Amino acid sequence: MNKERILEEAVTFVKSELGADSSGHDFWHAYRVSELAGRIARAESADEFVCRLTGLIHDVADEKLNDSEESGLMKVRSWLERQQVEFGIIETMMEIIQTMSFKGGGQPPVRTMEGKIVQDADRLDAIGAIGIARTFAYSGKAGQLIYDPNLKPREEINKESYRKGKSTAVNHFYEKLLKLKDMMNTPSAQALAEERHQFMLTYLERFYQEWELK
Ligand code: ADP
Ligand code: NI
Repeated sequence: MNKERILEEAVTFVKSELGADSSGHDFWHAYRVSELAGRIARAESADEFVCRLTGLIHDVADEKLNDSEESGLMKVRSWLERQQVEFGIIETMMEIIQTMSFKGGGQPPVRTMEGKIVQDADRLDAIGAIGIARTFAYSGKAGQLIYDPNLKPREEINKESYRKGKSTAVNHFYEKLLKLKDMMNTPSAQALAEERHQFMLTYLERFYQEWELK
């Protein structure tokens, strides 16, 4: 198993699968998650290869980009088999990809250290300056408003309403982004999340100031 070659092949695979997506899952999201997961893996003495590779391909199976969750997962598994990734690693990676997504919360916890790390990296990319950018990009694509003072954030969200319900970009901060800081699995990610979280609070403060002409 040639790890460097597999990582290079993964870049090509992910570019062709996600390259043109504009809902926040483009290639560069995968790249950032992979780099961040690699860095956290070194700090936490986890398997850097598994973290980087899973970071790259974690969204290829996303149900929003495939006919079904199953067909997306099959696509990822068969790609890993073609790259002759070790069987045990394929199993670990498939488990991580299936359990790590937010989907409104309430998912079973991720079991492996590498899973916890990739989940942290994915969550870190959803907050801070980049997270703000992705939220407005996604919102526009989904036809949501930037903000509507009459539409309050939803308190209770399940998988269905998270995907289907009507919301705004600013409400998404309360429905998801501001909750992520306290959901980090590793100390390294917690430290990074703290700064990104503070930046979002500052951003919201400014947003309301301008909205209210203060
Ligand atoms: P991932 O699978 O990478 O965890 P999602 O598929 O949940 O992320 O969402 C992709 C990006 O779009 C994220 O940055 C997320 O915060 C944002 N997003 C998801 N749902 C909404 C929404 N209802 N309104 C605004 N932004 C959203
Ligand atoms: Ni992601």
